[in-house]
Amino acid sequence: MLIDSHAHIDDEKFDEDRQAVIQRALDSGVGKIVNPGADEASSRRAVLLAENHDCIYAAVGIHPHDAKSYDENSHDQMLKDWAKKEKVVAIGEIGLDYHYDLSPRDVQKAVFIKQIELAKAVGLPIIIHNRESMADMEAILKDHFSATNGGVMHSYSGSVEMAKVFLDMGLYLSISGPVTFKNARKLPDVVKMLPLDRMLVETDSPYLTPTPHRGKRNEPAYVRLVAEEVARIKGMALEEVEEITAQNAIRLFNLK
Ligand code: NI
Repeated sequence: MLIDSHAHIDDEKFDEDRQAVIQRALDSGVGKIVNPGADEASSRRAVLLAENHDCIYAAVGIHPHDAKSYDENSHDQMLKDWAKKEKVVAIGEIGLDYHYDLSPRDVQKAVFIKQIELAKAVGLPIIIHNRESMADMEAILKDHFSATNGGVMHSYSGSVEMAKVFLDMGLYLSISGPVTFKNARKLPDVVKMLPLDRMLVETDSPYLTPTPHRGKRNEPAYVRLVAEEVARIKGMALEEVEEITAQNAIRLFNLK
């Protein structure tokens, strides 16, 4: 079984054919999908999808793009209430994004820290988004991240050195479509050194579509293409990569 550890099936790009997309995933051996939220509305949609589909699990959280929309009066309690639900398996996606800077950086940091602490309070792992924010990311995780609760650096695209810093903290790293790109410079080296017991695979659907579908909408069925490339780089059988990354996702997210 493959597990797509990060797909936004709730996205409006799937409104026309969501059921068919989920069925194609199941038909191609993707047994479980984790659907993270990015703001209040998408977190709510993720929870609903998870409650209506055995194979879908939800994460809830406010993305750094929307950190400025974080409302302490309502969101703290809302996230805690969602976190009690059986199909809600993580807080995410949360983090820092200094590429787009859609929320002020001090707000991004405060909202990220708040949600890491909330995840610890409710006993859930975190799904982290990190873009061009390494120094602050490292500092915040050093102070607040708990390996006991666990977490994953989603769609990892940084250097081998950065990967080692995150691995030392106890994080998982999730590999996505860009590993299949011809110009994926650093990623193959990251995959080579990445310990098998810390690796997840994901699509980040509808984004980051792997070769040969690049340029089109991504979907969970294509997580196989990511796993195939990981297997090729590591010199392993695809079945082995499927099995190990699925076990990792089950362990991290405590999937039933
Ligand atoms: Ni995402």
